[in-house]
Amino acid sequence: MRSKLVAANWKMNFTANEARAMLAALRAELDPESSTLAKDREVLIAPPAVLIPAVSQALAGSSLLLGAQNMHFEDKGAFTGEISAPMLKPFGVTHVILGHSERRHIFGETDEAINKKVLAALRHRLVPILCVGETLMQHDAGNALEVVVKQLENGLDGVSSEDIERVVVAYEPVWAIGTGKNATPEQAGTIHGAVREIIEQRWGREAAVKARIIYGGSVTPENVDSLVSRPDIDGALVGGASLRADSFARIVRARVG
Ligand code: PGA
Repeated sequence: MRSKLVAANWKMNFTANEARAMLAALRAELDPESSTLAKDREVLIAPPAVLIPAVSQALAGSSLLLGAQNMHFEDKGAFTGEISAPMLKPFGVTHVILGHSERRHIFGETDEAINKKVLAALRHRLVPILCVGETLMQHDAGNALEVVVKQLENGLDGVSSEDIERVVVAYEPVWAIGTGKNATPEQAGTIHGAVREIIEQRWGREAAVKARIIYGGSVTPENVDSLVSRPDIDGALVGGASLRADSFARIVRARVG
């Protein structure tokens, strides 16, 4: 059985003090249940880069994992404003979100750059969370699957069969992000099934069985149970609803039925 991964993408929210208050509230909710939750779920917090040291401290002694929202593919050099894997790792960062639709659409990240980041993450033993997803226009034109397949194939180009098991794919339809309009469990389930098939074709059955494919886009305490109950949906990437301790804790406790 694949364990579920529930990831908080804080995006550009919280000062250090706000982050500490949020995590104190979240730990008060989740720490007492950590041994039950640990059996089948992993919980990840991805704060803005500048908060990683503070969050790392605030998470000490908890089972919550620490992730970054982005990184550069080079280890160092003349890349103003960027951060690299070797800078993240000493703080206990284990995961990095890559190719989020806001990175693709607001900051112009290409499949090629995202692929380099995926390979850099793997080289540094970080788990890449590769985000894929179609825009509303592509969705309405019936091109969702085609877009997702292309992003997936380009993003994972050159990933070895040993490394594929460490990759997490996040299906995040752009029209569902921050809009309150989530994909239905059926819609998401279809895409997740297709992603798993591609992984099987490319890397074999075992890789496909182990691959974790999570869903993101307006996940809330109200809709999370039905989403993660689909066998192909291995967790959630949560934006807006991860900013409040009570709603994120409820999402972490999602009932798989
Ligand atoms: P949302 O964001 O939950 O606010 O829709 C999800 C994401 O962008 O990862």
